[in-house]
Amino acid sequence: MKPSRRISVIGAGYVGLATSVGLANRGHVIDLVETRPDRLQILESGSLPIHEPGMASVFADPDTRSRIRPFSAPQLGCDLIMVCVGTPVDEEGRSDLRQIESALRSVAALVAAGTPVVIRSTLPAGSGPRIVEWLGGHRSRIFLNPEFLQQGRAIEDFLEPTRVVIGAYPDADPDALAMVRDVLHFTSCPLLVVGMMEADLIKNGANAFLALKLSFANELAVLCEALGADVVEVVEGIGLDPRIGTKHMRPSFGFGGSCLPKDLCALTNVGKELGLAMHVTSAASEANADHQEHFASRVAGLLPAGCTRVALLGLAFKAGTDDTRSSPSLRVAQILIDRGVDVVGYDPHAAENALREVPGLSIAATAADAIASAGVVAIGTEWPEFRDLDWAALAGTMVSPTVIDGRRLLDADRMRALGYHYETVGAPIPSRVPSSVR
Ligand SMILES: NC(=O)c1ccc[n+]([C@@H]2O[C@H](COP(=O)([O-])OP(=O)(O)OC[C@H]3O[C@@H](n4cnc5c(N)ncnc54)[C@H](O)[C@@H]3O)[C@@H](O)[C@H]2O)c1
Repeated sequence: MKPSRRISVIGAGYVGLATSVGLANRGHVIDLVETRPDRLQILESGSLPIHEPGMASVFADPDTRSRIRPFSAPQLGCDLIMVCVGTPVDEEGRSDLRQIESALRSVAALVAAGTPVVIRSTLPAGSGPRIVEWLGGHRSRIFLNPEFLQQGRAIEDFLEPTRVVIGAYPDADPDALAMVRDVLHFTSCPLLVVGMMEADLIKNGANAFLALKLSFANELAVLCEALGADVVEVVEGIGLDPRIGTKHMRPSFGFGGSCLPKDLCALTNVGKELGLAMHVTSAASEANADHQEHFASRVAGLLPAGCTRVALLGLAFKAGTDDTRSSPSLRVAQILIDRGVDVVGYDPHAAENALREVPGLSIAATAADAIASAGVVAIGTEWPEFRDLDWAALAGTMVSPTVIDGRRLLDADRMRALGYHYETVGAPIPSRVPSSVR
């Protein structure tokens, strides 16, 4: 049995919470430091400030919950510090490292006094010298541990990781490294102890590759629409080659979230700053933006004459989360709003975050409210509950029963049998039947 540690986790976002709940579940005591008053207040009231279904059930365990104590600033006396703050990109796609700088400066005195620090935030490759500067030196006690969790299954991924990567300087303190390894490598999954640069590149490279796969599937989808072919069959046939694989190839109108677009951008920019072309990663970002534009144009093109109302079902960047950062659905909403379309959105968990990002959006309390009087329903997020809507009854509430499904969620035959003009991504586009004969 490995010893229980007192660990200071800095940042109570998706990664910080998965880290805190996961490590508390394994018997460690967590000082969870968060500067956002709203998140801190929710934690102090004994709840989680984000929507992560599996995490809530682990957090519901009273022993786990009692080991997590929220604070607004780092406390003295911990064995280890784990930094999980955000590293977004700015408008130009450059990494904005202000959160990490301020978090590292806030724990520099603890590190100077001998406490090792592990950075779990994703950093652009080559950030090592700045980290060391912000921590006031002590590089032998500084480690990286990139996180590979997927939102919607964050706690499962934390507790059952595919691999654990630890980045360390060549002169790493062996006792500190042993403690980091003990705390983080608690399953039989592969452990890779690598250099700092390699650790950054593993994380950025993994996300960039996932983004490439998705961009490729989405580009094939657009091609299939033009050729009248079905991309799902095509992708399955391609992916059954074990060198390619079928995972992470599900076609849609774009990928989003706080990681893939950002890490793709960060990797591209690091290369470009070194004078490299970065053709592949640049193209994947551009293609993703184009796929969202293409979908928005399809939605707008389906509006019947005189109707400007679109119901957008799903605002989160994917199902299973309330996160709307770089959500393709919201990007489509913004494009449509800019073209004068009235977009009425509905999402079971992400409405509040969506409204913060796209103030021009109207929010409906239910999917049925969003759909009533709309000329088109666009499926933006693959929430399974949208499958179970009473589509037969909803058809009569619309100006024209038309659905465009950006996630290939609904059954095409069933929707058409109910009288809908139904289109999806990466499939032959049926010609419109005049509404009088529907
Ligand atoms: N979200 C994911 O799925 C995921 C997966 C793997 C890696 N990552 C990486 O992990 C990092 C965190 O991502 P996230 O989605 O959890 O971000 P997030 O924005 O949800 O959470 C970051 C939190 O840190 C807090 N914070 C900022 N500065 C602070 C400080 N000085 N002290 C205390 N708290 C502070 C913020 O208020 C925020 O609540 C990013 O680098 C991201 O790229 C994210």
